[in-house]
Formats: sequence, C-alpha cells, structure tokens
Amino acid sequence: MVLDPNRILIAPSLLSADFSRLSDEIIAVEEGGADIIHLDIMDGHFVPNITVGPPVIARLRDCTRLPFDAHLMIEDPDKYAGPFVDAGVNMISVHIETQVHLQRSLALIREKGALAGVVLNPATPIQGLRYILDDVDFILLMSVNPGFGGQAFIPAVLDKLRDLSAMLRQERKRIPIELDGGVGPGNTAEVVSAGASILVAGSAIFNHPPYRDVIGRMKEEGKMAQGGFAYA
Ligand code: DX5
Ligand code: ZN
Repeated sequence: MVLDPNRILIAPSLLSADFSRLSDEIIAVEEGGADIIHLDIMDGHFVPNITVGPPVIARLRDCTRLPFDAHLMIEDPDKYAGPFVDAGVNMISVHIETQVHLQRSLALIREKGALAGVVLNPATPIQGLRYILDDVDFILLMSVNPGFGGQAFIPAVLDKLRDLSAMLRQERKRIPIELDGGVGPGNTAEVVSAGASILVAGSAIFNHPPYRDVIGRMKEEGKMAQGGFAYA
C-alpha cells in the first residue's frame, strides 16, 4: 500500500459509529466513498477511554477491502503491533508521547508489514520529527486531545500543520499528513490548504447521514483547496 500526499483521503473514525452494527457501518461508509477505515484503539491508561482490540478488528476485516488504520492510544504499542497486523490492520500509528525509542517502534511496525505512522497530541511540538522522517510513512496530527469523539477542533493546530508542511517540503519528503479531531465539511478547505491530506472524521460523518453526502462534500472541498498546493 502506498499513500500519495496529493490525494485527499477520507477516513471515517468508527468511534462515532453504531457499535452494535459495526460491519454495516463500515459497508455504508465504503459505499459512501470512504478511502480508509480509522480505528481508535484506547487502553484506559494513555487516554481516559477504552475501545476494542485485535479480536474485534479481525472479525471486521472480511466486510471491506478498505485499508484499516489503527490509531493506537495505548501505553505499550510495541507489544501490539504484531497482533494488529495479524488482525488485518494496514496502517498503525503510535503516539510520540508514549515512545521513548520511537525509531524502534516504527521499525517494528514496518517489519510486521504495516505502514508506520507517528501521532502528536495538539500541544506536542513537531521539532523532533525532523530526525525520524525516514522512518515514517505518514504523520498524524491530533486536532483535539484524544479520548473521545465529537470534541471541538483546536485552531492552533492550523499553524502546526503549516509548520509541518513547510518542514516536509524543505526536507523534500512526500509524507502525507493525517489530521484527526473535529474535522468535517466546515473546516475541510482550511485544513487541506494548511497541508493535511488524510482527513479523519467521526461525528461529522456518523452523526450526519447520509454518509455519501458528507464524504462527497469533504472530498470535493478538499480537492478544490488542494489545487495549486499539491506536491510536484
Ligand atoms: C479521538 C480520536 C478521533 C475521534 C475523532 O481520540 O482519535 O479519531 O474519533 O472524532 P471526531 O471526528 O468526532 O472529532
Ligand atoms: Zn483517531
């Protein structure tokens, strides 16, 4: 799997889906034009909430061909990279705040066969990323403090997006930036012009059916905002 930073990809976050009908919800967003399924994995330690683990993901794998993107909000992600890949996950991101040996964690994810991503909380500075650019396949910026769906977008993250985008261009790295938290049709143009290309959206999609309409709007607005900004 290869991620192209020039393509706007919409990644519905299942956190806001109906958990009693997860496979139906996945099928519905796939039919609505989603590109990636975003899975929020929480352990009740790194964030004050608990969700699902590899056995649930493995059961969902058969209902879609879309890539699974596991956002690990857990204290010991190294322990679970293998089980998540075995469950069918294609992209795994780990929080920089939990990882003392970040390159080692990212290498482990790649070794297991998934794309490796690093996630930053809104208050975490981007400077350290300069030294791990060869080790990541995507960078996920949080635009809310993780733990729950439906929180308000933190506007200061727009500056951070622009700074990261500038860093990647300066270093000549075509690494896609994923954005997660409070993203929806209302701010798609703004976040894409600031440099995001993979847009995670939970409540903006699942609380506003029909899914095809909202996903379509985000793609359209994202593509328009990206014009003139795309990588050569
Ligand atoms: C927050 C999660 C997000 C969340 C996004 O901890 O990482 O993926 O589900 O939800 P919305 O789009 O509703 O902010
Ligand atoms: Zn997430």
